Amino acid sequence: MAEYLVELYVAQGDHTAARRQAASAERAGTDLAREGRAVRYLRSIFVPEDETCFLLYEADSADLVTEAVARAGLRLEHVSAATTSVAGAQESPDGITKGTRMTSTTSTTTSTSSSTTSTTPTGTTGAPDLAELRDKQQKVWSSGDYNKIAALTVPVSEHLVDHVGVSPGDRVLDVATGTGHVALAAARRSAEAVGIDYVPALLDIARRRAAAEDLAVELTEADAEHLPYDDASFDVVLSAIGVMFAADHEAAGRELVRVTRPGGRIGLASWTPEGFVGGMLRTVGAHVSPPPGAQPATRWGTEEVVAGLLGDGVTDVRSVTATVRQRFADAAAFADLFLTYYGPTFSAAGRLDEEGRAALRADLVALAESHDRGEGSRGLVCDWEYRIVTATRR
Ligand SMILES: C[S@@+](CC[C@H](N)C(=O)[O-])C[C@H]1O[C@@H](n2cnc3c(N)ncnc32)[C@H](O)[C@@H]1O
Repeated sequence: MAEYLVELYVAQGDHTAARRQAASAERAGTDLAREGRAVRYLRSIFVPEDETCFLLYEADSADLVTEAVARAGLRLEHVSAATTSVAGAQESPDGITKGTRMTSTTSTTTSTSSSTTSTTPTGTTGAPDLAELRDKQQKVWSSGDYNKIAALTVPVSEHLVDHVGVSPGDRVLDVATGTGHVALAAARRSAEAVGIDYVPALLDIARRRAAAEDLAVELTEADAEHLPYDDASFDVVLSAIGVMFAADHEAAGRELVRVTRPGGRIGLASWTPEGFVGGMLRTVGAHVSPPPGAQPATRWGTEEVVAGLLGDGVTDVRSVTATVRQRFADAAAFADLFLTYYGPTFSAAGRLDEEGRAALRADLVALAESHDRGEGSRGLVCDWEYRIVTATRR
């Protein structure tokens, strides 16, 4: 029998949920083994910072493992037959092993809703090279054509600016501005608006939009992890589904705080792990492993994580969740739009062979269908959840 590793999503790295998943997995494995099936549950490894629980099974085939996971009532992300280990795995008294990060060489991946098998490089090391990761991610956001997607989230930016409250004359920084939604919204409210992003082509579009509306917006190519501004130089620092995609979450959090003046406000809108985009990013990750060292962007969709990233330099951390309604002709139209234009899905698809791309597309279609509000002739209508976290600089 070979060993198989199953990856499960554990929202917010919740230890109790991980323990429950491990117990169900063990019961299902034991039941199947009693029925004479060649599958045996070995142990679970929980990596809270990756919101992931790995189950280790011994079995004759990946299909048997998939059956065990289904019987346990768990939703698996993927099954790997690999020379895989989890760095720093340590047995804990409650029977669930804690690890830090995945290490492995190559794996054979079977995704949930497709029986297609593909070989992809996977795994992360204990000490990620964040500069290399940043360069990779910059290339991802430069790929596709984000401008074709950007309009979908205009309401998120408008909500963020109104929720935080921007007054005439405020100096406002929009971190990871993309095509400029938040910076433009702030400028429309007579603020002194500044936007930064590390994709020059997106900044050019933001400049054209500002020119078309005759708005004064300063747009600068820069990295969210190294903001080119003095300490305390902004009244309001905002980011709409932008800074969450920085490679080094800790550095980005520190920079947000550093450039905000005492008494100034920080407001961050991020997709939640449980929402539609959280599901989409996990779906992509199940087909093409994220680069080594990448932390899930949707960590920023939980208040506790953002409070930790902003640290002691802020007070009065609060959050609200909201949804932005999206409409597509159908689920396939959504999948094709994102596979063609959205950097993360576009570049993932480029790393797969034809069969792998078809499997990814099928899973994206299934995800969209599972979120459809069922409005029939109006096409696919779904609500994408995000969280706005606000804080005040001490
Ligand atoms: C989903 S888009 C959102 C863009 C924009 N905020 C909006 O609301 O449309 C994510 C943006 O984050 C930018 N980004 C990600 N990491 C960054 C970093 N470390 N520094 C600067 N920009 C970054 C990408 O280039 C991309 O424009």
